[in-house]
Amino acid sequence: MNREYVLGILSYSLLCFFPGAVPHTTLCHAVTGDTIILPCTIKTSEKLNISNYSIYWQINASVVVHVFYNGKDLLEGQSRRYLNRTRLFLDQLERGNFSLMLSGVEPADEDVYTCVSRNRVTKRRDTREVKLNVSYNQFMKRNVSPSGK
Ligand SMILES: *[C@@H]1O[C@H](CO)[C@@H](O)[C@H](O)[C@H]1NC(C)=O
Ligand SMILES: *[C@@H]1O[C@H](CO)[C@@H](O)[C@H](O)[C@H]1NC(C)=O
Ligand SMILES: *[C@@H]1O[C@H](CO)[C@@H](O)[C@H](O)[C@H]1NC(C)=O
Ligand SMILES: *[C@@H]1O[C@H](CO)[C@@H](O)[C@H](O)[C@H]1NC(C)=O
Ligand SMILES: *[C@@H]1O[C@H](CO)[C@@H](O)[C@H](O)[C@H]1NC(C)=O
Ligand SMILES: *[C@@H]1O[C@H](CO)[C@@H](O)[C@H](O)[C@H]1NC(C)=O
Repeated sequence: MNREYVLGILSYSLLCFFPGAVPHTTLCHAVTGDTIILPCTIKTSEKLNISNYSIYWQINASVVVHVFYNGKDLLEGQSRRYLNRTRLFLDQLERGNFSLMLSGVEPADEDVYTCVSRNRVTKRRDTREVKLNVSYNQFMKRNVSPSGK
């Protein structure tokens, strides 16, 4: 019980780190059932006019995880696997923080996620990669079983 609680806290917080050797890549670790924030930030000294930005979160340049376009989410092309499981932090976007919240993490989510942002006016394009590792949490199985209560 206590152990489960501690694991829950840990699995929510200390999740990502920058290996340093590979620029613009982050390693994240999550446990089945977690809600995790995949980090993606670009440096900016001024507030961004976010309606000039396109933000794409994708896998292998083909699987659409989340898209933000023209000042709002554009989820028509989103992979069904990510339906209702992703969101950007709208209040953070103008600060260049395009991090993505992913909920209900499952082992199949283990992959390399690419965050591509593009300023449609200046054509500036930035790419960040996040490698997500997922492991099972034997203590939280009940949270992810379909019949679980
Ligand atoms: C965004 O676009 C508008 C009009 O196209 C332009 O006036 C503005 O300077 C742009 N902002 C940024 C931050 O690029
Ligand atoms: C932001 O960009 C949009 C679209 O180009 C433009 O209509 C708006 O005026 C801009 N806002 C600011 C504060 O520059
Ligand atoms: C992306 O490509 C990698 C390597 O080819 C593959 O293992 C992975 O399953 C692919 N992911 C998706 C969601 O297609
Ligand atoms: C996603 O959310 C919508 C609106 O809240 C809901 O109607 C739909 O059933 C949800 N889909 C899944 C797969 O959870
Ligand atoms: C980006 O926003 C998320 C959600 O508010 C926050 O957890 C994270 O610390 C922010 N990243 C940076 C670099 O500010
Ligand atoms: C992530 O998983 C891969 C294999 O799936 C493993 O080689 C790698 O060491 C893991 N990295 C971390 C940080 O756990």
